[in-house]
Amino acid sequence: MFSDFQSLKEEALVCQKCPLCETRNKVVFGAGNETAEVLFVGEGPGGEEDKQGEPFVGRAGILFDKYLKHIDLDRNKNIYIANIVKCRPPQNRDPKEEEQAACLPYLRQQIALMQPKIIVCLGRIAAQKLISPDFRVTKEHGKFYEKPPFYVMGTYHPAALLRNPVNKGAALEDFLLLQQKIYEVCERTY
Ligand code: URA
Ligand code: SF4
Repeated sequence: MFSDFQSLKEEALVCQKCPLCETRNKVVFGAGNETAEVLFVGEGPGGEEDKQGEPFVGRAGILFDKYLKHIDLDRNKNIYIANIVKCRPPQNRDPKEEEQAACLPYLRQQIALMQPKIIVCLGRIAAQKLISPDFRVTKEHGKFYEKPPFYVMGTYHPAALLRNPVNKGAALEDFLLLQQKIYEVCERTY
């Protein structure tokens, strides 16, 4: 067990628990407010994230920041952002089951330390890990599941919205539902 975020991060930054360590440039541990009540979970770093060591800083990240701003969330203030795998899969392929399994203990520790009230899964990979193995974004986006001690919801991955802009309106609705949920169950976010 790690008693704090800093020591957990230090461990992750030199991690070699799966083969993604061989091709990564930087480990992307996560970013934001470690005491936030709302945690976003993506899939894994892309090219820009791998270069900078920060989550969601590429094109998808710019879109993501717009959605956040729309409901008064800010990665530097009232949320935290993490990923299922902390190292970039080559060519941005889906992380393999065994890579996800190797990396998941870091996310579990982040959740245990943060004790978020709400977790938002960005895309299928995160939702299938944290909500249910057969989660379908098209069918189940925007629905909150009660998984004590937190609520968890899945929505479109911002990179998927860049590919399929037709879903942007539905994603915005999910963020408005998130805002409602924050008003309901969070005390320090707004
Ligand atoms: N996509 C993700 O899932 N995570 C990131 O950090 C960046 C892009
Ligand atoms: Fe370690 Fe996770 Fe990176 Fe694999 S993806 S090397 S488990 S930090």
